[in-house]
Amino acid sequence: MIVLALSGLAFATYSARFGMRGLSLDLSQVTYIYTPGSAFANLAVFSHMVLGALIMVLAPLQLIGRLRSRYPLAHRMAGRVVVFGSIITAVGGLTYIALRGTVAGPGMDAGFALYGGLMLVAALQVVRLARAGEVDGHRRWALRLFVLVMGSLIYRLHYTLWFILTDGLWSTENLDGPFDQVQYFAFYLPYLAILELRLRRQTRTDTAG
Ligand code: HEM
Repeated sequence: MIVLALSGLAFATYSARFGMRGLSLDLSQVTYIYTPGSAFANLAVFSHMVLGALIMVLAPLQLIGRLRSRYPLAHRMAGRVVVFGSIITAVGGLTYIALRGTVAGPGMDAGFALYGGLMLVAALQVVRLARAGEVDGHRRWALRLFVLVMGSLIYRLHYTLWFILTDGLWSTENLDGPFDQVQYFAFYLPYLAILELRLRRQTRTDTAG
């Protein structure tokens, strides 16, 4: 857990700094992600990095029961920030895909667009169900949103582990090798599936009890 938390903090710091630099400087000589002459594309992609970093730090805190019960107001305020941040992160990423496309083309576009679409749906469901007073539904969608927010970190952790183990087998610089293609979806779909299984098992136990 400590290693995971430290990697999360390190990636969030990297992402926030990258985003801030992209919002304030001309990074055309530094990264292909910067679009010379398109303030809109740059605003979309670099603000998604800043807000993405923020939600990655806040979302895990929302799951700590002791913090929730001791500071309910802080939980609600932070919850709003996470929902708002998730919406901007998802819309920013989707806008960049629509305007520029990802480095690897249609397959990666599809994987990341589905990722952004799911994050958007989960964020809207979290706030809708909280407003409707549907506590259990709110909790389920909050967990789905959590998995999606952490997906961005999991994507980098998959790569780190893979490179340590195989020295980058089946991965290319343009992210279109066999390993990369699996990763377009593998950083969130399997984890969402595991969560669904756990939620279903929980429902069965609750109804049986
Ligand atoms: C916790 C949330 C997120 C964080 C912290 C985050 C952070 C980043 C960072 C730092 C980059 C720059 C590449 C790198 O240096 O690794 C990036 C690229 C990108 N992100 Fe995100 N991101 C998040 C969520 C999303 C979502 C939800 C989408 C989906 C629409 C998305 C779409 C993209 C795209 C399309 C790129 C450029 C890929 C390429 O062509 O290289 N991100 N993100």
